[in-house]
Amino acid sequence: MRTRISNLTAHGKPGQGYEVAGWVRSIRISKEIAFITLNDGSNLPGIQVVAEQGVANFADIGRLGTGAAVRVSGTLVESPAAGQAWELAATEIRIIGAADETFPLQKKRHSFEYLRSIAHLRPRSNTFGAVFRLRSRLAQAIHSFFAERGFLYVHTPIITASDCEGAGELFRVTTLDPASPPLLDARPDYGQDFFGQKTGLTVSGQLEGELFALAFSDIYTFGPTFRAENSNTARHASEFWMIEPEMAFANLSDDADLAEEFVRYLCRFALEECAEDMAFFDRHIENGLQERIRRVAEADFVRMDYSDAIDRLQRSGVSFAYPVEWGLDLQTEHERHLSEHVVGGPLFILNYPREIKAFYMRQNEDGRTVAAMDLLVPKVGEIIGGSQREERLDLLEQRMAELGIAKEPLWWYLESRRWGSCPHAGFGLGFERLVMYLSGMENIRDVIPFPRTPRHAEF
Ligand code: 4AD
Ligand code: MG
Repeated sequence: MRTRISNLTAHGKPGQGYEVAGWVRSIRISKEIAFITLNDGSNLPGIQVVAEQGVANFADIGRLGTGAAVRVSGTLVESPAAGQAWELAATEIRIIGAADETFPLQKKRHSFEYLRSIAHLRPRSNTFGAVFRLRSRLAQAIHSFFAERGFLYVHTPIITASDCEGAGELFRVTTLDPASPPLLDARPDYGQDFFGQKTGLTVSGQLEGELFALAFSDIYTFGPTFRAENSNTARHASEFWMIEPEMAFANLSDDADLAEEFVRYLCRFALEECAEDMAFFDRHIENGLQERIRRVAEADFVRMDYSDAIDRLQRSGVSFAYPVEWGLDLQTEHERHLSEHVVGGPLFILNYPREIKAFYMRQNEDGRTVAAMDLLVPKVGEIIGGSQREERLDLLEQRMAELGIAKEPLWWYLESRRWGSCPHAGFGLGFERLVMYLSGMENIRDVIPFPRTPRHAEF
């Protein structure tokens, strides 16, 4: 029976026989002995297999190349080599799938850019092994965090008729013939489309999430999100995953409390449960990463009003590409300056100008700001966006009218304010931005298995 390599190195008994299977990462061969590093994805280092001439098919080993799939039977022994506790003394090695010298992931280091062009193979490299193990573990930790707190997990729709963020970044979903759609007043008649109306891929599960919060108190969504925004940056993807909790009977301060607890929990989780991969990131991706994350796990996050943030930026003496004045939507350069230089850690910016935020945010008494919050972190910038929601029907309708948002398509959202409306708040955490933050990886394309960005959807 096959044993996963991570189990073998953690729980294997010396002197006992085991069978493992995986892919050859490197191989050193001499006439009498061969050393093979075998990796099955279950951990970073894999295991060193030592095959001496006595192994039945020693001759076959000569045909083994980096990337080949093999099955090995052998005895677990203490390793005399430095840097590893165990190795497997092979009694039999079987080549399952050969790989020749054209396999692109030979030993030398490759640029992340090159590896993106072989996204079908890069999971077999050390860096991407670590990234995608971390990503998988974090996804599970996120579910644990909310389960431990009694939040209901709700699956909000992927196909939707409403643009929650109002930024017009919906990808269309249609079955109309693009060459000759049925027309109404010289425009495509979406009334004849599959759903009988204009639909697209969701930009956020929030609006539907709110409806569930108004029944289950505390809920969260965790699913794919799509935005057709044409921004080719290292932090934007056209398809990304978002976690959106929503709490009934909660205000902005409760919202920030939850976000802070959540991020700290995930920092601790990564350090404790993904220690081997985190140590790898620290060594090869960002020096001092673990210390940085440890500080975040222990720190109280700073909370700063938007108006104070503008003040701090204006007094910084830095000349930004986007000049700073009250009303400005903070750009990455501003967000990074605040978190990296002003605070030196994560910080919440609270109470943004209403003109730069979405229609559903709760209007503050001052008449010019809304109860919004963004969590900014060093290097990545905005990682969380959230708000207390406008629960007062008249004010919500008034704001929609000001922004020219039609009431009719959102009738169901408005009705949630008609019966049993209550203060509620929530936020969205960009999952890829979290993985970037915790791994030190600097491009969002390198924390998504198969990234979708403008002009890129090949694999
Ligand atoms: O700030 P955003 O747009 O907020 C919302 O969508 C709200 N409906 C959330 C809520 O209150 N329930 O997006 C939330 C987060 C951002 O802070 C960022 O981390 C991530 O989603 N994000 C992206 N990540 C990758 N690529 C993109 N194009 C992203 N746009 C937003
Ligand atoms: Mg935002």
